[in-house]
Amino acid sequence: MKKYNIVIVGGGSTFTPGFLKSFCRMQKEFPLNKLVLFDIDGERQKPIGEFGKLLFQDNAPEVEFSYTTDIKEAYTDMDFVFMQMRVGKYAMRELDEKIPLRMGLIGQETVGAGGFAYGLRSTKEMIKAVYDIRKYAPEAWILNYSNPAAIVAEALRREFPDDKRILNICDQPENIVRSASRSLGCDFHLLDPVYFGLNHYGWFTHLYNVETGEDLLPKLREIIHERGFLPQDAEQRDQSWLDTYGYVQQMMEDFPEFLPNSYDQYYLYPYYKLEHLNPEYTRTDEVRNGREKRVFEECNKIIEAGTTKGLVDIHEDAHAEFMIDVAMDIAYNRNNRHIIITENNGLIANMQDDAMVEVAAELGANGPRPMGVGNIPTFYKGLLEQQVAYEKLTVDAYFEHSYQKALQALTLNRLINDAKKAREVLDKLIEANGDYFPELK
Ligand code: G6P
Ligand code: MN
Repeated sequence: MKKYNIVIVGGGSTFTPGFLKSFCRMQKEFPLNKLVLFDIDGERQKPIGEFGKLLFQDNAPEVEFSYTTDIKEAYTDMDFVFMQMRVGKYAMRELDEKIPLRMGLIGQETVGAGGFAYGLRSTKEMIKAVYDIRKYAPEAWILNYSNPAAIVAEALRREFPDDKRILNICDQPENIVRSASRSLGCDFHLLDPVYFGLNHYGWFTHLYNVETGEDLLPKLREIIHERGFLPQDAEQRDQSWLDTYGYVQQMMEDFPEFLPNSYDQYYLYPYYKLEHLNPEYTRTDEVRNGREKRVFEECNKIIEAGTTKGLVDIHEDAHAEFMIDVAMDIAYNRNNRHIIITENNGLIANMQDDAMVEVAAELGANGPRPMGVGNIPTFYKGLLEQQVAYEKLTVDAYFEHSYQKALQALTLNRLINDAKKAREVLDKLIEANGDYFPELK
């Protein structure tokens, strides 16, 4: 059995230890030759890297595990690159959230003005990273889930139009499917979704039972109406995520025909969301006081003990399991179905061809073979076209160094929708982001 070489870019991420645990457990199904963590912040990555060393030493010593800040060491001979960079780390995520919120605008990791700022930061570093990767690993599969995935995907489409081994993908659609399976009381593999939209902005039109072909969406609609909606891993979630999933019930009361992605609520209920978001305590604060603290404390505890045996309290999450599953589908040409991001080209028949859309696809060694959904109803088309225009203008602003395009993007963003506010928030974001941003003239 071939053994694979994998690098995780963003080794210092709070999600990395969960990935390491999953990789370690899956050595029989997906054997690795080499697993490398790469981060430009060596200090942050170190405790996670040291934890990883102990983990593999104790459980899978045959895997060559290491961590590095060196580009050549990170990328040479890689088969898969797991891209999970967070440019500016949580310090900048906090500003993405709080600067807009203090002005009465939605500030969120990937949505609204916050997502715009993160988009410009990520685009710059992602493009650079892809050039670095191609220098040392021309054939590697780049699995990108760095956010905001919609904007990153559009930027990479333009910069690397002929690179067929970049896959932009997000776990949230699968998280919703898993949650639906919890409501329906079945294994999530039983559900075969039909989905359309953009990243963090889409809907499920059907959830078919793979065995019988029955559409389980009507049944799920009733369950959600009666009992609400929970993430599959509700017991491990912070309150804000429980609220976010819970709000799927309201969305389905108002727009019952499809099952929404949880992120749709920002676009459909911006006033409600604003009332319930606290500009002084955002998701970043919650993560810092929760997941980030837990993960680093746990790593340090293990390092002190010098062993992982009987100690590891870090849980594997659905996110890691999902991404590894994606890599295995490519490695073993399994052609399983996943919801992925790809160029439209008629998949959503009544939307522009060059939009980066999110739909179900069969995924194998030759990449995704996406499945079209035909025409979508006017309501959804209207919402999505506005968002595509916003995303494209954001990427235009990046490539053209254009303040004017940035202003147009934010004015068009459904969560701003006002040129004066757009200019105000843009100026504040430019100031706060400094060299993270391209120059906007
Ligand atoms: C989901 C989304 C990701 C996003 C993450 C945020 O998994 O698909 O794109 O980054 O949630 O999670 P956090 O716990 O950091 O708020
Ligand atoms: Mn996502």
